[in-house]
Amino acid sequence: MGRDKFGAGGRRGCAGYTRRMKVLGVESSCDETGVALVEAGPTGVPMLLAHALHSQIAMHQAYGGVVPELASRDHIRRVLPLTEQVLHEAGASLAEVDVVAFTRGPGLAGALLVGAGVACALAAALGKPVLGVHHLEGHLLSPFLASDPPEFPFVALLVSGGHTQLMRVDDVGRYELLGESIDDAAGEAFDKSAKLLGLGYPGGPALSRLAEAGRPDAYALPRPLLHSGDLDFSFAGLKTAVMTQLRKLGDAPTDTQRADMAASTQAAIVEVLLKKSLAALKQTGLKRLVVAGGVGANSRLRAQLDAECAKRQVRVHYPELALCTDNGAMIALAAAMRLQRGAVAGRDYGFDVRPRWPLATLAAAGTEAVS
Ligand code: KG4
Ligand code: ZN
Repeated sequence: MGRDKFGAGGRRGCAGYTRRMKVLGVESSCDETGVALVEAGPTGVPMLLAHALHSQIAMHQAYGGVVPELASRDHIRRVLPLTEQVLHEAGASLAEVDVVAFTRGPGLAGALLVGAGVACALAAALGKPVLGVHHLEGHLLSPFLASDPPEFPFVALLVSGGHTQLMRVDDVGRYELLGESIDDAAGEAFDKSAKLLGLGYPGGPALSRLAEAGRPDAYALPRPLLHSGDLDFSFAGLKTAVMTQLRKLGDAPTDTQRADMAASTQAAIVEVLLKKSLAALKQTGLKRLVVAGGVGANSRLRAQLDAECAKRQVRVHYPELALCTDNGAMIALAAAMRLQRGAVAGRDYGFDVRPRWPLATLAAAGTEAVS
């Protein structure tokens, strides 16, 4: 594998390269194909030039959830047209791309292989280096593309479909896990409860919409591990409580009862996320919170975090709403921020993917082993 001017081994925290660069990012870990182009100088927050997304929601809806084989096949169909669209919108040519980044994991193996394969083939054809990116690092850094980007260090609440984690973040790749879900993720709790309520996939936004017409205190649902004294979460019991409560309502709950159930479920999930985030801020003494991942789009969560953090002089940062769920922009951004810190983009096009890949095991940017 060769090394070149992009990340030629600069000191940690120093620019690993010397001129402006364009990074193409490809996301294909689950049910969204995302492609984006960012531009970055040796320092400073990278700039998003263009991004394009194709959501597979309509395709999977008939099955009530993501069908991995269909997801992979659809990524194959979408990724090149989306790349052309992004380059067109950015007014850039393929030849101007300096590094091709892709989601290496975690995610669905087949879906990841599509993005990795296309990214490596593209890079090989262009003679440009490639960089595999951690999907959750992409989510975590996505608020840097907002108009008011955060500064390190901060507490991060990462709430995606498969992960619920609180982390202390000191820099790119310097993550300390403070607590995480010991069973279901918050997104899963939204999705599974939505299914019990007869709502379609994806459940989170649907449940949230139904909750607008309901009373959050209508049903007493458990707040798992709320007083556990640590920063871990547990949401599996909540789903069971929702099921039990719905059984009590019989075969045909009224619209009001369903809305009340949705509102009560959302209130339970949000209260736990809120209280644990506040506890993490207190424990670390940090005055900055970054919320990332699909559940970060939830309006009740945002409203309550905003209100409680304002009382404590804590700044809260979210990604732009459109960048809360999976997208290519966060992958290109994470790659660019790693490259700025001396990460090495290589020319080993024999890619691999990591469907299971704990974020806390990631090396700090610029200190990765060169493979
Ligand atoms: O981060 P993400 O797009 O994908 C993963 O990497 O998992 O997160 C998807 C999750 C799903 O569980 C979805 O139901 C949830 O985010 N979600 C929401 C909302 N929008 C998406 N949950 C609650 N309220 C929302 N508005
Ligand atoms: Zn995601």
